[in-house]
Amino acid sequence: MAKRRLTRRQRQVRRNRIILACAAAALLIIIIVIISVSMKGCSKSKNTDKNTESTTAKVEESTQNTENESTSEAAASTSADNSSATMSDITSASNSSEFAPPVVPSGNVVSKGTTSKGFKIQEINGATYIDGVLIANKTYALPQDFIPTNPDQPVNADRSSTCLDKTLMSAWNTMLKDATANGLNIYIASGYRSYNYQVNVYNRYVKSDGVALADTYSSRPGNSEHQTGLCFDLNSIEDSFQYTNEGKWVNDNCYKYGFCIRFPKGKDSATGYQYESWHLRYVGVDLATKLYNNGDWLSLEEYFGITSEYPN
Ligand code: DAL
Ligand code: ZN
Repeated sequence: MAKRRLTRRQRQVRRNRIILACAAAALLIIIIVIISVSMKGCSKSKNTDKNTESTTAKVEESTQNTENESTSEAAASTSADNSSATMSDITSASNSSEFAPPVVPSGNVVSKGTTSKGFKIQEINGATYIDGVLIANKTYALPQDFIPTNPDQPVNADRSSTCLDKTLMSAWNTMLKDATANGLNIYIASGYRSYNYQVNVYNRYVKSDGVALADTYSSRPGNSEHQTGLCFDLNSIEDSFQYTNEGKWVNDNCYKYGFCIRFPKGKDSATGYQYESWHLRYVGVDLATKLYNNGDWLSLEEYFGITSEYPN
């Protein structure tokens, strides 16, 4: 078929149409690219918003948890009967086996019969153990050379807060952590004291108050529980300690970590000493819970059926 020859004008028109079509196509591509880029940008900024929201929610959640913990702790510490609060208030401690009784040393064991409540009395290396619990009171003295039998650190000073019993120290660290988490400031003011150190402490008090009064709050050398390495005084040895947040928390919670208030309020005739809200003795959680007695502390003397009286 013979090809029709276009006029010059027709060729010009056709060229213009092709250029127009190309321009339209290019424009269309540009529009598509712009739309798709802007769509991507939108979806990205939506994700960012979502992340911000979830972070905010997490912060609020954790604040809520902290508030709940403080609230429940405050409720526990102000409650008159905390027996129902028990282990759930312990934030770090996982179970009671963590606060086992101190290890009873081996050595020369002499049987000394039983207490008025039927507990076994034994002398091990000259120190008295009732049902496996080391006793140092006015009736039962320690040998002059007695030192902590299972110390956390070697006993190389007359006075120390680091050579206390190993099991006590572990329990103390947990209790300290929980007290701190509750915004409380507790610290060991006096831990282990040797026989010789107690000589000076006691004599100083006798000098200022006389023997009769000194005997109501300070032990004679050999009769102080501080020589065992199983107790300590917290913060300040002032009556006011019992009314501080620290004193109240310790009174209501120390048994959960295996500690007891060794000289409870109103038990002077049993223990031989005035009330000491700051003096904690480690016995392990099972015995400590019995002594706690739902908030009405029993002394070791009452529980075991033993006396605390100087022979002279
Ligand atoms: N304050 C206690 C009784 C002691 O001196 O061991
Ligand atoms: Zn003390």
